[in-house]
Amino acid sequence: MASRLSIFVFFFAALLSGFSLAEDPSVFHVYELSYITASPLGVPQQVIAVNGIFPGPVVTATTNYNVEVNVFNRLDEPLLLTWNGIEMRRNSWQDGVLGTNCPIPPQWNFTYSFQVKDQIGSFFYFPSLNFQRASGGFGPIVIDNQDRIPLPFANPDGEITFMIGDWYTHNHTVLRRRLDSGEELGMPDGVLINGKGPYKYDATVPDGIQYETVNVHPGRTYRIRVHNVGTSTSLNLRIQNHKLLLVETEGRYTSQTNFSDFDIHVGQSYSFLVTMDQNASSDYYVVASARFVNETVWRRVTGVGILRYSNSKGPASGPLPVPSTDVSHPWSVMQQQRAIKQNTSSSGARPNPQGSYHYGQINITGTYIFRSTPPTMINGSLRATLNGISFLNPSTPMRLADKHGVKGVYKMDFPSRPVDKRPPRLDSSIINATYRSFVQVIFQNSDTKVQSFHIDGYSFYVVAMDFGNWTEDRKGSYNNWDAISRSTIEVYPGAWTAVLMSLDNAGVWNIRVENLDRWYLGRETYIRIVNPEENGKTEMGPPKNVLYCGALKSLQKQQVHSSASSMVNGNLIRIFSFVMVLLASLC
Ligand SMILES: *[C@@H]1O[C@H](CO)[C@@H](O)[C@H](O)[C@H]1NC(C)=O
Ligand SMILES: *[C@@H]1O[C@H](CO)[C@@H](O)[C@H](O)[C@H]1NC(C)=O
Ligand SMILES: *[C@@H]1O[C@H](CO)[C@@H](O)[C@H](O)[C@H]1NC(C)=O
Ligand SMILES: *[C@@H]1O[C@H](CO)[C@@H](O)[C@H](O)[C@H]1NC(C)=O
Ligand SMILES: *[C@@H]1O[C@H](CO)[C@@H](O)[C@H](O)[C@H]1NC(C)=O
Ligand SMILES: *[C@@H]1O[C@H](CO)[C@@H](O)[C@H](O)[C@H]1NC(C)=O
Ligand SMILES: *[C@@H]1O[C@H](CO)[C@@H](O)[C@H](O)[C@H]1NC(C)=O
Ligand SMILES: *[C@@H]1O[C@H](CO)[C@@H](O)[C@H](O)[C@H]1NC(C)=O
Ligand SMILES: *[C@@H]1O[C@H](CO)[C@@H](O)[C@H](O)[C@H]1NC(C)=O
Ligand SMILES: *[C@@H]1O[C@H](CO)[C@@H](O)[C@H](O)[C@H]1NC(C)=O
Repeated sequence: MASRLSIFVFFFAALLSGFSLAEDPSVFHVYELSYITASPLGVPQQVIAVNGIFPGPVVTATTNYNVEVNVFNRLDEPLLLTWNGIEMRRNSWQDGVLGTNCPIPPQWNFTYSFQVKDQIGSFFYFPSLNFQRASGGFGPIVIDNQDRIPLPFANPDGEITFMIGDWYTHNHTVLRRRLDSGEELGMPDGVLINGKGPYKYDATVPDGIQYETVNVHPGRTYRIRVHNVGTSTSLNLRIQNHKLLLVETEGRYTSQTNFSDFDIHVGQSYSFLVTMDQNASSDYYVVASARFVNETVWRRVTGVGILRYSNSKGPASGPLPVPSTDVSHPWSVMQQQRAIKQNTSSSGARPNPQGSYHYGQINITGTYIFRSTPPTMINGSLRATLNGISFLNPSTPMRLADKHGVKGVYKMDFPSRPVDKRPPRLDSSIINATYRSFVQVIFQNSDTKVQSFHIDGYSFYVVAMDFGNWTEDRKGSYNNWDAISRSTIEVYPGAWTAVLMSLDNAGVWNIRVENLDRWYLGRETYIRIVNPEENGKTEMGPPKNVLYCGALKSLQKQQVHSSASSMVNGNLIRIFSFVMVLLASLC
């Protein structure tokens, strides 16, 4: 009972302090992460639920809203939630990765508090530590346009979300052990759509699997938001007989283009408009199938859901539709990704057109080339590197160490280009970048698999990708006009991707591969961007509830927590978050 009361008190305290001070509206959520048993592929296993559901609930906000999420860790491991694609302007304290936040110990809670400044679009959150995403804990984030800024398409008749991802019937602790022992992860056991296994599209699918069904009405147009929240596999999404009109990716409206199927790499988010223009002679398959895997070895179940018209005349049957491009012709696959352009005339988070920021006319003042090579043994362990360095997370978060004058936690010597002569090593080595410089970042993939790279705190312009090695003269081939701006980009094996970004968001930001296997083995670093003329405005200070650990552990006050048995159950928490959103919208 005591804990229920404290949550109550917290809400009203938040209500009083939050609303009177902040100019922009706020949304509040209480998220409890815990294990539940589920059998998405017919095998019972522990998955990570948020407020008792898997995948977790959606965070919905509008441009510039303040978002507060009080996260309770009911797992048996430390936890951090990261907000993939949310830029956290001036506020890397809320980013939820180990380099900037102390982990939330089991049975503790931590309230994330951030503003979705100048953002719109589709994103997701997930647990960033210890391979936990492979067991769940993820959910969608939707940032709506402000009322005064129209969408660049007619208001859709409804919204549908697909969280797709490869899936193992073993949990994250087992997968982690596999990597720790120097093995590769191996083929996933299948693909899930919204935490559910496949419709029985053929005899290889076990009986009794719960699959996703989406109910729609003929003639209507839906906005479908798709996120690849999987462990490491690129997926191809398609809806039988229907066109996918690409309209948005990771916060930018795209030039609207129809596709019959679309490749979505790990960590990426897209919105499509889909019009229900078929005659409903049957239900239709929704397919998310593995890409760039060895088909003769794969032989796993594919992700299959059902699109059901209200006037459907019967179940879906027959073979699954196939992707339009063949991965054995990598060029044709890359062409699809190169076709993603921003709509320069539409407005997004701000009233001025997206194309009014002329990124192509800004002089490039710095170059970083980040090379990935296949995992290698370092000091007797299998590790993955970036420019020959496998990242070791310091025990004290880096910016917190700066603020408290703790020295020697990390080094700022991350090489801006691959160093061929040095043997690979483990290090807490990060990038010392110049505030407000305008840089090109080249991701060069000499590893054997597609890698998806993500940079926290930023979105970047994807100006070129090609096979072979990047050379200086390739600058001439950059798209300096309508390149898409986003935060997660794939890099094909034997190929490179070039992005441009303005380093105007002060803080320490994670640069990582989203493929969990490589990330876990150390393929990440951080970029430290500090205004040398800091005036108290370029970067926020640590929040009042900041957690301390490592060298600063003695500053941490103990939390008083309820025992697990008396904790508030997920339903009650959900009702409360709902009430808070209601209250927020009334104020
Ligand atoms: C993961 O699976 C292993 C083996 O089945 C089991 O012993 C362990 O308790 C599971 N861990 C979690 C956190 O569910
Ligand atoms: C933990 O939750 C309580 C309310 O139950 C809240 O007052 C407190 O600020 C939270 N702790 C942190 C570190 O955010
Ligand atoms: C996309 O395809 C739909 C259905 O075939 C069609 O009605 C629409 O005009 C197409 N839109 C564009 C921009 O090509
Ligand atoms: C419409 O439905 C009929 C069966 O009722 C089917 O034979 C026909 O191919 C369908 N037409 C289209 C365009 O889907
Ligand atoms: C796929 O795997 C099989 C069996 O290991 C192997 O013989 C074949 O060469 C592989 N194909 C490709 C394209 O790598
Ligand atoms: C671009 O956005 C405008 C709205 O500003 C819209 O009318 C137009 O159809 C869009 N064009 C494309 C190609 O997506
Ligand atoms: C960009 O560089 C060119 C050539 O070095 C120089 O002439 C120009 O003034 C620079 N532009 C800006 C905006 O700094
Ligand atoms: C291997 O480990 C030792 C001791 O932990 C360390 O001093 C050394 O730098 C490590 N070597 C590499 C290549 O990281
Ligand atoms: C980091 O870069 C700044 C210039 O941007 C330089 O003044 C400073 O000495 C550098 N620090 C280190 C440790 O390299
Ligand atoms: C690209 O560079 C790497 C490393 O220097 C080299 O091993 C490889 O052969 C190069 N590839 C091509 C296509 O030139």
